[in-house]
Amino acid sequence: MDATEKKRAAAKAALGFIEPGTRLGVGTGSTVNCLIELLPDVRDRIDCLVSSSKATTALLEELGFEVRTLNEVGSTDVYIDGADESDKHLQLIKGGGGALTREKVLAAAARRFVCIIDDSKLVGMLGTFPVPVEVLPMAQEFVSRRLVKLRGQPVWREGFVTDNGNHVLDVQGLQIVNPLDMEERIDRIPGVVAVGIFAHRPADVLLIAGDDGVREMRT
Ligand code: 5RP
Repeated sequence: MDATEKKRAAAKAALGFIEPGTRLGVGTGSTVNCLIELLPDVRDRIDCLVSSSKATTALLEELGFEVRTLNEVGSTDVYIDGADESDKHLQLIKGGGGALTREKVLAAAARRFVCIIDDSKLVGMLGTFPVPVEVLPMAQEFVSRRLVKLRGQPVWREGFVTDNGNHVLDVQGLQIVNPLDMEERIDRIPGVVAVGIFAHRPADVLLIAGDDGVREMRT
């Protein structure tokens, strides 16, 4: 199976978590795009949809779905999203697509967070993938200096503006021995909007697609 086939397989397995009457949160990225293609098949099971990005909203609307706001819906039953890395505790790095802040809100507002990945993303220790950090543009240099003190090497994702009008720093070289602690340390830096370490709110279910099919891990 190539990477795209694995993404499709993980997305298909996630459909099993959409039960009749589900209030569904939808993440962002190429794996989630595979899920979005399949959502018309389970349209009658979806009560309402909330989206984590403008890109996802556009795709859902193209398929005729009405996208509600989290303010309207309050919370969701299931949030389905991809990730850039997961460890065995289902703690994640997310934000490769730059939607990390809204993704974090939707993950927090969901009763169950189902994460869909291919097996290349399951790692022993988080941090090979650079950690995305959304920052206020006026605080970018200040936050960068603080991240260097944490032994990271922040690289500005030049030319990219988030859906919230902010910038993203991709931080290489962080030793994430304790993801809970690192998430807190980065979150505490003034000017940080969100950090793409999802340790305090990990996934509840991880669907990992490999050559032998899709296997499931739970917290
Ligand atoms: C977007 C994300 C994505 O879930 C993550 O980058 C994985 O993307 P893909 O499914 O394209 O590999 O966090 O902000």
